[in-house]
Amino acid sequence: MKKKVTWREKIGELDDRKKKAVARGVRNVTGIFVQSAEGSIMKGLDGNRYIDFAGGIGIQNIGHNHPKVVRAIQDQAEKYIHPSYHVTPFEPYVRLAEKLNEYTPGDFQKKTMLVNSGAEANENAIKMARKYTGKRGIIVFDRAFHGRTLLTLSLTAKSVPFKKGFGPFAGDVYRLPYPYYYRSGAKSQAEEDCLILKRITDFLQFEVPAEDVAAVMIEPVQGEGGFIVPSVRFMQGLKEICAKHHIVLIADEIQTGYCRTGKLFAMEHFGVAPDLMTMSKSMAAGMPLSAVTGRAEIVDAPEPGQLGSTLAGNPVACAAALSVLDVIVEENLVAKSALLGGKIMNAFSKMQNKYEIIGDVRGLGPMCAIELVKNRRTKEPATELAANIVQYCWKNGLIILSAGLYANVLRFLPPVTIQDEYLYEGLAILEEAVKKADL
Ligand SMILES: Cc1ncc(COP(=O)(O)O)c(C=O)c1O
Repeated sequence: MKKKVTWREKIGELDDRKKKAVARGVRNVTGIFVQSAEGSIMKGLDGNRYIDFAGGIGIQNIGHNHPKVVRAIQDQAEKYIHPSYHVTPFEPYVRLAEKLNEYTPGDFQKKTMLVNSGAEANENAIKMARKYTGKRGIIVFDRAFHGRTLLTLSLTAKSVPFKKGFGPFAGDVYRLPYPYYYRSGAKSQAEEDCLILKRITDFLQFEVPAEDVAAVMIEPVQGEGGFIVPSVRFMQGLKEICAKHHIVLIADEIQTGYCRTGKLFAMEHFGVAPDLMTMSKSMAAGMPLSAVTGRAEIVDAPEPGQLGSTLAGNPVACAAALSVLDVIVEENLVAKSALLGGKIMNAFSKMQNKYEIIGDVRGLGPMCAIELVKNRRTKEPATELAANIVQYCWKNGLIILSAGLYANVLRFLPPVTIQDEYLYEGLAILEEAVKKADL
């Protein structure tokens, strides 16, 4: 009789094949092979059920495999998959551009270009800003993450694992501080904001003249950097500096966009309309798609033929993105997102009162995080404890991720559509993990 293959053997075999066939640099943190996914639940090949608080790093804000998105993808695939916009344009691209021009903040005429990934959108935003201003310099911030292509890797801050050994990097990129109130030496948020805004102003006066700076690129909430939220005062001050010096303000909303923060776009919290905004991740519910939307005169600065990419704006991905916007409106996901943020922050604050290792809880809407420390007074990062908590959660059916320079921040990106039942089950697993680590 043939011996029945167990799931452990099947996964072991698949893992061996993966190691032999796939570049090891393409890391996957959990090692859990997926069998199926729906809403906020994933099923592993191991037969286990997982509650998803990672959402594929923020690409599943409306939940896995929303039926409306699946249908839109199927319908479009039956019509045509990709004739390439550069050869024969198609309506879904145009319609999506119209919608993004309408939905993004800013009461001015806008235009949009579509590409494939977050990094590609950021690269194109820089091209537009340079062409428009005739300047070269780009200001980015400490801990920023803007992608992994050569230019965007130059904008990204963290050396290990992202940059080490990949230089030389692109020139004309300058890094300045971004408010991190929990770890700031300043007496108050206002003082920290003032110091940083002064540092930026001085930089433009004494180090690299504003006449040489084309753009400032900023994440409205730092993602990979540790879910760090700046103040309204800081963002408005930054906007003023940019406007004064003819510098294009680019908001990288690749992780913060699409209801992640309790608004459709995070910049809405700050009352600031960026000149250009980049989007991706949840925009097409996991289909490869990204966009640059912004002031028409900046988006139109490059001449015909200067922008593009053969696979960009794929109609199947556009159909998915259009249905995502419909779902957001029909299911009232902006309001749901704000509500979910409140529930999570409430749970985190209660946990902070109980467990010494929780140094800080912070977030904007349901883009929230817990920063772990060895000692609340010294704030020494508790990297190992964070790794233990994350591992415990995976083993117990909850997918979470860490972030931050020291990987001591637990970050949460659950689908905005998550049902309370799964939310509280997930939070209970998390609390159990924190409790064990706090001993
Ligand atoms: C804020 C931000 N910008 C850019 C990127 C890069 O996007 P992609 O991985 O699609 O190139 C990411 C990805 O995590 C991101 O979080």
